[in-house]
Amino acid sequence: MAYTVPSKILLNLALVLLLLGSADAQSLQVGFYQRSCPKAEEIIRKEMTAIMSLAPSLAGPLLRMHFHDCFVRGCDASILLNGTTNNPAEKDGLPNLSLRGYGVIDRVKAQLEAACPGIVSCADILAIVARDAVFLTKGPFWDVPTGRRDGKISIASETLTNLPPPFFNATQNLNLFFIPKGLNAKDLVVLSGGHTIGTSHCSSFSSRLYNFTGNGDADPMLDKDYLPKLKSKCRPNDATTLVEMDPGSFKTFDTSYYKLVAKRRGLFTSDATLILDGQTKAYIERQAQASGFPSEFFKDFGESMVKMGNIGVLTGNQGEIRKRCAFVN
Ligand code: HEM
Ligand SMILES: *[C@@H]1O[C@H](CO)[C@@H](O)[C@H](O)[C@H]1NC(C)=O
Ligand SMILES: *[C@@H]1O[C@H](CO)[C@@H](O)[C@H](O)[C@H]1NC(C)=O
Ligand SMILES: *[C@@H]1O[C@H](CO)[C@@H](O)[C@H](O)[C@H]1NC(C)=O
Ligand SMILES: *[C@@H]1O[C@H](CO)[C@@H](O)[C@H](O)[C@H]1NC(C)=O
Repeated sequence: MAYTVPSKILLNLALVLLLLGSADAQSLQVGFYQRSCPKAEEIIRKEMTAIMSLAPSLAGPLLRMHFHDCFVRGCDASILLNGTTNNPAEKDGLPNLSLRGYGVIDRVKAQLEAACPGIVSCADILAIVARDAVFLTKGPFWDVPTGRRDGKISIASETLTNLPPPFFNATQNLNLFFIPKGLNAKDLVVLSGGHTIGTSHCSSFSSRLYNFTGNGDADPMLDKDYLPKLKSKCRPNDATTLVEMDPGSFKTFDTSYYKLVAKRRGLFTSDATLILDGQTKAYIERQAQASGFPSEFFKDFGESMVKMGNIGVLTGNQGEIRKRCAFVN
């Protein structure tokens, strides 16, 4: 009894110190808006359900948007800021090609501002919308930790130095882009599974079809039976045609991406070479064999998305809560 009181005080003191110490570097938490905007996630889900039934092809771009946001300056919604003539933003950078769905974010944000003005960040909207896009294409559900705040800076040239290009091999992308952001080989092979939905422009991979080494040749790593099919869809220098990345199942989030990669039908060098890297090969082979409910991949995908969603986040009193996602307040 004699030391109960002091230990309680010490505990409280420790708690206070902990809170003080983390005042501007808190970590994200599931249910961050439980008190300030209890219906936030419900509002987003309702909008997303409506949008996905009208325009299901937006699932891919909306998942990719969160990835592009997180890899450049952290998950701070810098991808959503509009540039100016003199200061082009991430949106204006080359890898933005095919990023679309900005209108969806604006629509969701407008609903949230009507319900709880100035509370829900654009960065959190991107994270929850990406999760809902996956869930509504029959993929996994995971709890999204929230509490991100929005940044004030967006620079076009940073996209080129932070986003992995499709013509790098898996090992290069791992070492140059994933590891520096705190993601590992497993995250790379799991998150690449995001290519189970969506489409790609021919221009993102046509060098593999027509001029791989500069001698008018094709990438020898590409399945010989698949090559003519891709060539018939993508003529040389075609910059506009869209190709399903996971043909036949590009609207369904499943393990068929891994079956394709195992058959040497991955669209990009970054996909195809996942079977060369010792750290990712086994995962591809295992998921390619997976039948029935893809529980391992589904669980892993949620975990890696949460990790990706933590990259460079602003919390506490850092940044701001933007009123309109395309503009700083
Ligand atoms: C390993 C590094 C990665 C590379 C090199 C890469 C590259 C690309 C490229 C070149 C495209 C096609 C863009 C176009 O031409 O329209 C694309 C599309 C896509 N990527 Fe990735 N990506 C990577 C990782 C990821 C990650 C981590 C995710 C999300 C978890 C993701 C999700 C998507 C989705 C959903 C699409 C389809 C977009 C649409 O339908 O418009 N990618 N990716
Ligand atoms: C912001 O940029 C987008 C895409 O570049 C453009 O469509 C939109 O009109 C811009 N918004 C404003 C208010 O300038
Ligand atoms: C993407 O970048 C290109 C320039 O590379 C620009 O013309 C285009 O408007 C940008 N797209 C969006 C949606 O901002
Ligand atoms: C990936 O590319 C690098 C640089 O060209 C090369 O050194 C490495 O051997 C390649 N790795 C694989 C597995 O192909
Ligand atoms: C193939 O690449 C080489 C070297 O980059 C280039 O000189 C040649 O013009 C290209 N051929 C075609 C058909 O694009």
